[in-house]
Amino acid sequence: MKRLTLLLTGAMMVGVVALAAAGDFHVGTSLVCSDCHVAHYSQSHGATLGGIFTPLGAGGPFNNLLRDDDNKVCLACHNGSSFAPDVFGANGGTTGIRQAGGLNVASGHNLSNDPGYDEINGHTLYSTALPPGHGTSAYTPSADGLRCIDCHAQHGSAAQYRNLLNRGAFTGDTLTYAVGVNDLTKDVYERSAAAYTIDQVDFNEPSPRRSAYGKWCQACHQDFHGQGGDANMGGLAGGVTSTNATPWKRHPTADVNIGESGSSATFISSLSQFASRTNKVKVMDSQGLWTGSSTDNTVTPSCMSCHKAHGNTNGFGLIFMNGTGTVTEQGDGGVYKDLCRQCHSEGA
Ligand code: HEC
Ligand code: HEC
Ligand code: HEC
Ligand code: HEC
Ligand code: HEC
Ligand code: HEC
Repeated sequence: MKRLTLLLTGAMMVGVVALAAAGDFHVGTSLVCSDCHVAHYSQSHGATLGGIFTPLGAGGPFNNLLRDDDNKVCLACHNGSSFAPDVFGANGGTTGIRQAGGLNVASGHNLSNDPGYDEINGHTLYSTALPPGHGTSAYTPSADGLRCIDCHAQHGSAAQYRNLLNRGAFTGDTLTYAVGVNDLTKDVYERSAAAYTIDQVDFNEPSPRRSAYGKWCQACHQDFHGQGGDANMGGLAGGVTSTNATPWKRHPTADVNIGESGSSATFISSLSQFASRTNKVKVMDSQGLWTGSSTDNTVTPSCMSCHKAHGNTNGFGLIFMNGTGTVTEQGDGGVYKDLCRQCHSEGA
C-alpha cells in the first residue's frame, strides 16, 4: 500500500543500488541523517540531501527531530516503494517472497491494515501489550507501544543481521551474518547484499546447542526459548530419549536435531519426513545444506521454522507448509497440521 508520494529521480535510484551493494543499509555511508531527521520541521522543497526525500508527516514537530513519528518515519520508505523492502501488510513494493513477511498495526494511528493482515496475525505496531511469555524480559512498551526501533537499530549495526538490536534488553544477543559466500561460523547466510527473500536467506548453526535467532526473540519472549533440560523447556540436553522418558514441555527452538533420537518413537520428529518435503520451512543447519538427507542429520527447528518475524495472514504469523504447491508468505496452501507434518509423521 503506497502511503506517500516520493520524489525519486533515476539518478537517485542508481545511488541507492550502489549503496545497497555495500552489504547492509542504514550503516556507514548508507546512514543518511536527512532520510529520517529534519532540522526545523520545515522543508520547502524536495532536496534529497544525499539520500531519499520523504515529505514531513502531519502533526509535528516530532520528538528527536524526526520527519514523522517513530514508526511512520520508517514506513515512509518501507511501505509500497520499489527501492526498499515493504514490511507492512501485503507486499506492494519489491518482488519476491519476503523472509520477514508483513506487519500489522493497532487501530487509532491513521494507518489501516491491508486485508488479512489483522492484529492476531503477527507483530502489531503501536501495540501496548506485553509480549506473550514476557517472564523476566527487560522489554516494556514505549509510550507509542511497539516500534520498529524496539527491534532494529535506527542508526545501523555493521555486525548485526538486519541491524537487529544488541543493546538494552538484547545485550549479548549477537546475530552475525555472511554475504555472498557462506561462512558456517556466522548465524545467517544472505546469498547477496540487499537480499530479503526466502530463496536468498538461510540459517546456520555455529553452535549446535544454541539458536542466536531464538535467543534474540527471547529478549522479549523470555519463557519460549532455551536448551533441552532447561526448566522452562523440558527435554534432555541435546534431545530426548527414544522412549520419550524426558518429554519437552515447550516446543524446542534449539539444541535438538530433527529425527535425532530415532523416527519410530511416539512424538519424535522424523528426518525422512522433513527430507521428503519439496517445500520446506526454514531450519538451522551446522552443515549449511538444509536438505535433511540421511547425511544432513544436523537440521534444527527454531522460531523462523514456524513464524514470520513480522507476520502474514495466518494466525500468529504461522507458516502452513504442506510440502508441495506454490509457495507464498503463508506457506503453500496447507493447513495448521501441515506445518507440524513437515517434521512429524502424526496425522497422515
Ligand atoms: C528514506 C528511505 C528510508 C527510510 C526513512 C528508512 N529506510 Fe530502511 N531501508 C531503506 C533502503 C533503501 C534500504 C535498503 C534496500 C536495499 O538493500 O536494497 C533499507 C533497508 C533497511 C533494513 C535492512 C538492512 C539490511 O541490510 O539488512 C532495515 C532493517 C531497515 N531498513 C529498517 C528501517 C527502520 C527501522 C527505519 C526507521 C527508523 C527505516 N528503515 C527507515 C530506506 C529507508
Ligand atoms: C533510518 C532513520 C534514521 C536515520 C537515517 C538517522 N536517524 Fe537518528 N534517530 C532515528 C530515530 C527513529 C530516533 C529516535 C530514537 C528513539 O526514539 O529512541 C533517532 C534518534 C537520534 C538522536 C537522539 C539520540 C539517540 O540516538 O536516540 C540523535 C542525536 C540522532 N538520531 C542523530 C542522527 C544522526 C547524526 C544521523 C546521521 C548520521 C541520524 N541520526 C540518522 C532515526 C534515524
Ligand atoms: C521488542 C520486543 C519483541 C521482540 C524482540 C519480539 N517480539 Fe514477538 N511480540 C512482542 C509483543 C509486544 C507482542 C504482542 C503484541 C503484538 O502482537 O505485536 C508480540 C507477539 C508475538 C507473536 C503473536 C502475534 C499475534 O498476532 O498474536 C508472535 C508469534 C511473536 N511475537 C513471535 C516473535 C518472534 C518469532 C520473534 C523473533 C523473531 C519475536 N516475536 C520478537 C514483542 C517482541
Ligand atoms: C518484533 C520485532 C520487529 C519489529 C517490531 C520490526 N521488525 Fe523488521 N525484522 C525483524 C526480524 C527478526 C527480521 C529478520 C527476519 C528473518 O530474517 O527471519 C526483520 C526483517 C526486516 C527487514 C528485512 C526484510 C525481510 O523481509 O526480511 C526490514 C527491511 C525490516 N525488518 C524493517 C522493519 C521496519 C521498517 C519495521 C517497522 C515498520 C520493522 N522492521 C519492525 C524484527 C522486527
Ligand atoms: C514448531 C513450531 C514453532 C516454533 C519452532 C516456534 N513457535 Fe511460536 N507458536 C507456534 C504455534 C503453533 C503457536 C500458536 C499458539 C500455540 O499453539 O501456542 C505459536 C505461538 C507463539 C506466540 C503467541 C503466544 C500467545 O500467547 O499468543 C509467540 C509469542 C511465539 N509463538 C513466539 C515464538 C518464539 C519467540 C519462538 C522461538 C524462540 C517460537 N515461537 C518458536 C509454533 C512454533
Ligand atoms: C522443523 C521441524 C519441526 C516442526 C515444523 C515441528 N516440530 Fe515438533 N519437534 C521437532 C523436533 C526436532 C522435536 C524434538 C524431539 C525430537 O525429535 O527428538 C520436536 C518435538 C515436538 C514435541 C515433543 C515431543 C516430546 O515429548 O519430547 C511435540 C509434542 C511436537 N514437537 C509437536 C509439534 C507440533 C504440534 C507442531 C506443529 C505446530 C510441530 N511439532 C512442528 C521438530 C519440528
